[in-house]
Amino acid sequence: MYNEIDFDKIDINAEPPVNEPDRQYYFMAKCREWVWEFERENKRRPTACIQTFGCQMNARDSEKLMGVLKAIGYQEDDSEKADLVIYNTCTVRENANQKVYGRLGFLQTLKRKNPKMKIAICGCMMQEKDEIETIKKSYRFVDIVFGTHNIYQLAELLDRQIQTQKQTIEVWTDTEKIVEDLPNQRKFLFKSGVNIMFGCNNFCSYCIVPYVRGRERSREPGDIISEIEHLAADGVIEIMLLGQNVNSYGKTLEKPITFAQLLQKVEEVEGIERIRFMTPHPKDLSDELIAVMAQSKKICRQIHLPIQSGSTRILKRMNRRYTKEQYLALVEKIRTAMPDISITTDIIVGFPGETEEDFLETLDVVRRVRYDSAFTFIYSKRSGTPAAEMEDQIPEEIVKERFERLLMEVQKISSELTKKALGKTELVLIEEQNIQNPEMVTGRLNNNTVVHLVGGAELIGKIVPVKLTEAKGFYYIGEGCD
Ligand code: 5AD
Ligand code: SF4
Repeated sequence: MYNEIDFDKIDINAEPPVNEPDRQYYFMAKCREWVWEFERENKRRPTACIQTFGCQMNARDSEKLMGVLKAIGYQEDDSEKADLVIYNTCTVRENANQKVYGRLGFLQTLKRKNPKMKIAICGCMMQEKDEIETIKKSYRFVDIVFGTHNIYQLAELLDRQIQTQKQTIEVWTDTEKIVEDLPNQRKFLFKSGVNIMFGCNNFCSYCIVPYVRGRERSREPGDIISEIEHLAADGVIEIMLLGQNVNSYGKTLEKPITFAQLLQKVEEVEGIERIRFMTPHPKDLSDELIAVMAQSKKICRQIHLPIQSGSTRILKRMNRRYTKEQYLALVEKIRTAMPDISITTDIIVGFPGETEEDFLETLDVVRRVRYDSAFTFIYSKRSGTPAAEMEDQIPEEIVKERFERLLMEVQKISSELTKKALGKTELVLIEEQNIQNPEMVTGRLNNNTVVHLVGGAELIGKIVPVKLTEAKGFYYIGEGCD
């Protein structure tokens, strides 16, 4: 296990080991020497800031990156004035890329003031050839570039950059490898994401993820459970199992296992009180999974079930492999088994060829399912995906108008639903001090809805009963009950 590594015992003058994770321990030991030198010169340790864009997967990757940096001796800093700034990027939608380039320009001004500052950029955007070319050509001040498959190599790449003082680029197009047992630095002490699989094989026609995250690879159940046991021993009570399509979990393992079977094993880990997962694909959500969820005391009463569009015609063009009717039947089945479950979704507006009739089908699904909340997105053309080549891309004004109508409907329904629980007392896991009001704390219900209440930092990480006194659209104000 990583915790048992004694860096002082690693001979950094020897050749680096070939096997992982030993190779990374070796480079971490080497970088530690460099940090000591920095400390002697500057009378302080170097600082590191990681800015994360995008999804829970990236958030978890950033925790791994910070874990390595802390082991090396960096001090965490949330300001971009740090000695090392890493942008962990997302490329699901085009505007995320624009944002990164805008912010890199700002980092360049900071680097002019602190020439020793290092800038690294990683994540999904770096899996795109064009973006790497742009960085090489127009952003020479970026020191390290790496991709989603070699995130675990941070120490090695940092060492290479320190030795060569040149822009260091290492991006793999795909990998079979899953490197375990590296450090990580959790953002929250009491909850954690746990990767159960990487990559995606679904190739929805609008989505760039299969191209940047590669083919599906599942972790061994034994490794997942052992990680969760360690997390539980370290005070974690809530875990979120992460995968692009958790329903495909385990299919390609030497000893295949279903996602529902994995959940049953996770349920047995003592100390874990809440289990969440993201994201199941509606096309292959099994009866077995519904049954396991319905019986479980720990799996949260919440399911994120991306619909993307309510029109069967558009769903076909999206390569989603279910119809509107099949999706609605699935929702029905889930609600029959768990009447109190909260259902959330993702919806894309303005997919190529979407007509007013297609859009009305989406609104119809929204009204029928009555989602507790929905993430709504304007379709973004991602080059390299089949949808980018489709004719009849929808004009911006039409998409914006549909998007507004959809948003109003989604918000109306979610505020009606939150009102239903008013006056009830529910268990809330307190997560953090409220950002706007330090006398308040913020937590989440079992169904993931946010609750703000008056309370102190001592509540953080505890599950407490809270009376829900005000419904504010998609969140509550509550009062502690003890
Ligand atoms: N345009 C808009 N939204 C997209 N998503 C994925 N690709 C695109 C795209 N090209 C959305 C989907 C997915 C969520 C994570 O991002 O709704 O479920
Ligand atoms: Fe993208 Fe579809 Fe895979 Fe989700 S299931 S990551 S939307 S290709």
